[in-house]
Amino acid sequence: MEIKVEMTRNPKAKPDPDKLGFGNYFSDHMFIMDYTEGKGWHDPRIVPYGPISYEPSIMVFHYGQSIFEGLKAYRTDKGEVVLFRPDENMKRLNASCDRLCIPRIDEDFAIKALKQLINVDIDWVPSQEGTSLYIRPFIIATDPYLGVRPSYTYQFIIITGPVGAYYKEGINPVKIYVETNYVRAVIGGLGQAKASANYAASLKAQEVAKKKGYTQVLWLDGIEKKYVEEVGTMNVFFVIGDEVVTPALNGSILPGITRKSCIELLRHWGVKVSERRISMEEIYDANEKGQLREAFGTGTAAVISPIGELNWNDKKIVLNDGKIGELSQKLYDNLTGIQYTKVPDPFNWVTKV
Ligand code: COI
Repeated sequence: MEIKVEMTRNPKAKPDPDKLGFGNYFSDHMFIMDYTEGKGWHDPRIVPYGPISYEPSIMVFHYGQSIFEGLKAYRTDKGEVVLFRPDENMKRLNASCDRLCIPRIDEDFAIKALKQLINVDIDWVPSQEGTSLYIRPFIIATDPYLGVRPSYTYQFIIITGPVGAYYKEGINPVKIYVETNYVRAVIGGLGQAKASANYAASLKAQEVAKKKGYTQVLWLDGIEKKYVEEVGTMNVFFVIGDEVVTPALNGSILPGITRKSCIELLRHWGVKVSERRISMEEIYDANEKGQLREAFGTGTAAVISPIGELNWNDKKIVLNDGKIGELSQKLYDNLTGIQYTKVPDPFNWVTKV
């Protein structure tokens, strides 16, 4: 399929690279492709970024058939622009499609479209230390219809925009509130899909945690509320003695690409990583025994985010004196080093646009 390109006649001024924050600015163009039952995906196009008009009856507004991805393009010291494991994002997008009865996309074509879009807006990829171009592919149901069934039409859209750190803390430790009332997902639900609905489900607890002075919530399993699942926008790891533990992908946890990359890096370094069930009790016990050395979250937006404090039922623990741990720092340095091509990439994770 040929991708039609319509260039903007009104390029926007670029934002101040020191004041990007996350998710505030959008590049000049976006990619759109339509799906119609019987015809498949069609009419791929790159057009000026801007408002799109829909009928108020389209199904995504009512029944939430909406999934997304998040990845980044990085500007290297040589001025080149690279992507980190985009194949993994497209694979996961298709897994989300399957769960939400959305027709699959052609992964290679989606990567080609993504690269073309980034090339059109290449000047939007920032070069300041710690910045990148965040890429948000998403699919929504567009049938103007109110019966409950999967839509017969969809749009696959990719928008991009320059970003800095996701958390105001940057690489400094964040405070995490362990949520014991609300749940994010249960096995059999949408938890392992990157469904917009999961984020809607998380907002209430997030708001409560914020009011108490915490940056994010740590979700527990939806049945017993005993076992750790993930943190708001990240997967989570604990360093206990010489073992690194992260919750196993049990069906209700998002299979993070940064999670997977950290596991692969740690194993490559000979560090013992266990993907298993881990309870809050075990974490607090390990802390009592002086064995809980570090905890950190992983995510595309958040990168590696050390956890400085946990609050579980008002029992607070401070990790590593509230400072970034040695392993968190090593992972951060190596992961971002690979992403910005500053260190060798033994896994071939990075690809030029
Ligand atoms: C990402 O890390 O890219 C995500 O999708 C999390 C997001 C909700 C900010």
